[in-house]
Amino acid sequence: PKIFALVPAAGQGTRIGDAVPKQYIPLAGKPMMFHALETLASVSRIHAVIAILAPLDRHWGEYDWSEFPEKIEAVFSGGKNRAESVTNALAHLDARIAKDDWVLVHDAARPCITKSLLEQFLDEVENDPVGGLLAMPLADTLKRAEETLRVAETIPRDGLWRAQTPQMFRCGLLRRSLAQRPESTDESSAVEQMLGNAPKLVQGDNTNLKVTFAEDLELAEMILLRRQM
Ligand code: C5P
Repeated sequence: PKIFALVPAAGQGTRIGDAVPKQYIPLAGKPMMFHALETLASVSRIHAVIAILAPLDRHWGEYDWSEFPEKIEAVFSGGKNRAESVTNALAHLDARIAKDDWVLVHDAARPCITKSLLEQFLDEVENDPVGGLLAMPLADTLKRAEETLRVAETIPRDGLWRAQTPQMFRCGLLRRSLAQRPESTDESSAVEQMLGNAPKLVQGDNTNLKVTFAEDLELAEMILLRRQM
């Protein structure tokens, strides 16, 4: 089976408060999403790397793609949420992806993923019957808040993990799962709802952070620049 990497990059990224969509904010010398696209393309086991863009994306066309690996391409099929963006892209790629090919999904907003972490992840998941995801055990103690911002309760953190990406599942299973759970905030939560399909957890790395708020940008840039040294 082939591995197709999808990078959903069709969001608005409004929480970060910038004029350009989050995935295009410059980070260590290039737009944020280029980091993940290039790192994914550097893994020889990955057959194609596909950015999922908003239908009206005006930024992709501004770059000279002749400089980039040929494996990278774009589909302008973003939807109203991430699950819909992935579903639309799978429909668009239907003729090229077989049911038992792997679909690896990685957030455009996780630019610090490394080639070695990707390869470790693929080693762990490529032979799994279901598929899996990178995740980190929780380090912080969790509080549930009341609306008044007072602590209502503490949630025991034993056995709790924070899901990251990549997440990788067989194309057929992923499509069926997303069709049943179109509101899922990640691919794993859709697959988990299908009886007998518990995704495998592979320990990730805290540097594989998701850039959501302005301060995450600074941290991600420090990590990327330090690796270039
Ligand atoms: O908004 P959030 O940070 O959770 O988005 C996660 C990823 O999904 C981002 O890379 C974002 O660009 C993408 N996304 C998308 N289509 C949407 C919403 C988010 O591709 N409609």
